Amino acid sequence: MELSTFGRRFSAQAGILTLMDDLGAALATGNQIMLGGGNPAYIPAIQQRCRERMQQLLADGNAFERLIGDYCSPAGPRRFRQAVAELLRREYGWPLTADNIALTNGSQSAFFYLFNSFAGRYDNGRMKKILLPLAPEYIGYADVGIDGEIFTSNRPRIEFPGNGRFKYHVDFDQLKIDTDIGAICVSRPTNPTGNVLTDNEINRLSQLAAAHHIPLIIDNAYGTPFPNIIFTAATPIWNENIVLSLSLSKFGLPGTRCGIVVAREEIIRVMGGMNAIFNLSPTALGAALAEEMMRSGEIIELSRREIRPFYQAKAERACQTLAHLLRGTDCFIHVPEGAIFLWLWMRDLPISAAELYRRLKERRVVVVPGHYFFPGLPAGWRHCQECIRITFAPDDQTVAAGLRIIAEEVINAYREG
Ligand SMILES: Cc1ncc(COP(=O)(O)O)c(C=O)c1O
Repeated sequence: MELSTFGRRFSAQAGILTLMDDLGAALATGNQIMLGGGNPAYIPAIQQRCRERMQQLLADGNAFERLIGDYCSPAGPRRFRQAVAELLRREYGWPLTADNIALTNGSQSAFFYLFNSFAGRYDNGRMKKILLPLAPEYIGYADVGIDGEIFTSNRPRIEFPGNGRFKYHVDFDQLKIDTDIGAICVSRPTNPTGNVLTDNEINRLSQLAAAHHIPLIIDNAYGTPFPNIIFTAATPIWNENIVLSLSLSKFGLPGTRCGIVVAREEIIRVMGGMNAIFNLSPTALGAALAEEMMRSGEIIELSRREIRPFYQAKAERACQTLAHLLRGTDCFIHVPEGAIFLWLWMRDLPISAAELYRRLKERRVVVVPGHYFFPGLPAGWRHCQECIRITFAPDDQTVAAGLRIIAEEVINAYREG
């Protein structure tokens, strides 16, 4: 069977496919220590609240029948979009209405829409790219471009705050924004590193984007006000030039596939049009479960009270354990400021992260080798081969068992040097 160029893109060795295959295999066999995926934890208080909401829906006249029986409008159910707009207006004073909000089937598909709307071929024949000001960035961006390689990215500036930690910063001196850039994108907190760009960095990026008349896309999958998996002070930001992407996944609802795009109306109309063409309408289950929590603000309260402390404690435990196991080596852990990952840099490791990944898999531990997280970066930076991403969302025992094996393999690898 012969596939088109487009078809072949989706059967190639995309990083996200390898990751999802490993995740699927681990879930199916159940005998692997899965520290590779981005699955959020089951947090009992959140799951209980969602169960109650489902029961209320089932008991509420024909609400359930309408939920499963109707297509909603292409940008998502209007009442839910209104509730999101009001929540963000109340919380941050942003001048939003329902027309500034679109739902997508998970924020992953929002990135497919957004990146292909601002990068690739333009009507005048020009090719434009998405600028990632700082790589490493989210693996899920890497393969979404239908016009081939649509990213350009920059090496970060690295700060060493001491205690075996490091932190990436945007290197503004290296940032080149010309007419070949269609949009700028950052995840904040960042997957895979747990980095949170500072207010100063975000404001500078916002100003640069505005000065070049291109959007700044901020991927807020882990950010405020929900799910609020962010352990440092960071001011949320939105304006007409910013596209803010939110998601219900890390709140605990990844199975409902609910992404939320906040943007100027013109962009929201494009999102709705793409939904209509690709999906007719987005899924409405997540919106139905979360609508009441959105309207009352309970989603913010739950995120502050249950979600952030849960992950912050896990981040601290995992970070301390790993730092202790790797003491005396040349390893550094990125300061865990948010999200659900530790990013380990094994400086001058004699083997590549891909080889380490293979050895760990033999010992039934699944992580993600770092080289997938540098889309758009010119080859030749050894750092890309020296890092791995470790998820700390699973239960503490599993994480600790995985970290022990990771540390053993890393120490063995250093001895080969
Ligand atoms: C930074 C980031 N953005 C976007 C997504 C996509 O999430 P979803 O499609 O479940 O909303 C993820 C998922 O892990 C992520 O880590």
